[in-house]
Amino acid sequence: MEIINGKEVAASIRLEIKDEINALISRGLKKPHLAAVLVGNDGASETYVSLKMKVCHEIGMDSTLVRLDESTTEAEMLEHVEKLNKNPNITGFIVQVPLPKHISEQKILEAIDPKKDVDGFHPVNVGRMVQGLPSLTPATPTGVVELIKRYSIPTAGKHCVIVGRSNIVGTPLALMLSRKSDPGNCTVTICHSRTKNLAEFTRKADIIVAALGIPGFLKADMVKKGAVVIDVGTTRVKSDQTKSGYRLKGDVDYDEVAPSCSYITPVPGGVGPMTIAILLKNTLKAATYEK
Ligand SMILES: NC(=O)c1ccc[n+]([C@@H]2O[C@H](COP(=O)([O-])OP(=O)(O)OC[C@H]3O[C@@H](n4cnc5c(N)ncnc54)[C@H](OP(=O)(O)O)[C@@H]3O)[C@@H](O)[C@H]2O)c1
Repeated sequence: MEIINGKEVAASIRLEIKDEINALISRGLKKPHLAAVLVGNDGASETYVSLKMKVCHEIGMDSTLVRLDESTTEAEMLEHVEKLNKNPNITGFIVQVPLPKHISEQKILEAIDPKKDVDGFHPVNVGRMVQGLPSLTPATPTGVVELIKRYSIPTAGKHCVIVGRSNIVGTPLALMLSRKSDPGNCTVTICHSRTKNLAEFTRKADIIVAALGIPGFLKADMVKKGAVVIDVGTTRVKSDQTKSGYRLKGDVDYDEVAPSCSYITPVPGGVGPMTIAILLKNTLKAATYEK
């Protein structure tokens, strides 16, 4: 069994991006500039956004945090998005979710210029991805594909079962892994909360991706010997062993499942670090687009 070290892969990607930024600068081009919009005071969102800004700084990418009050209206929020769309100094931006209930996330998402949509969630980017056209792709599933690629895990002809069909993880990943590409060419089954006898599917899988958000859901008796297990789940659970009072738990019962796998991603340190690395890679890619 080999543990897939997402922390290490993400660190290499960050170094690659740093080199590319230096190459841009030496050609007299502008540094990429990532902006993040944060509305309200959600603790988890604060943590994610400040981590993203910190990593930008480390790799020499410019960053701006746009902090908005919880009481910001949808119309005001749309104005902020439009300002960022039009600002020639901003390469790409993200709007951290969840947004307060009175703001439609879909409306905000659709207002973002697809060329600056470094989260890759805009319908134009999703549509382009479906058609195999160049696009900004969602960070977490792209990160999963990148891990598979960098560990040279064979995918062609393999049966991949993805548990979870969200727009940000399960559905785009199913597309990416079933496409005529390498990694890709998998036969993909998507399971979800209405799937009957789910273990019958996972037991047949060569590759299992757990992306449902139920800690410890995937047990040893649901996994074929030698399978590749990718754990996307990250649920904060209370812990008296950490300073923050919580720890992250994946969707896989790691201690039970790991011994019988060929490869497995841990939580933390597996898929999680890849998400930020790919977000930065998307920002670099957006810098090459004509605005
Ligand atoms: N590492 C990272 O950077 C990263 C990034 C994004 C998400 N995540 C984590 O990944 C997990 C999934 O995130 P998400 O945004 O995709 O979640 P989501 O939008 O809540 O979607 C969860 C999916 O799992 C399915 N599901 C729920 N209970 C199930 C069950 N008992 N059996 C089978 N399927 C079940 C749901 O089915 P229905 O469609 O039928 O409701 C849904 O498709 C979460 O833990 C999240 O924190 C991590």
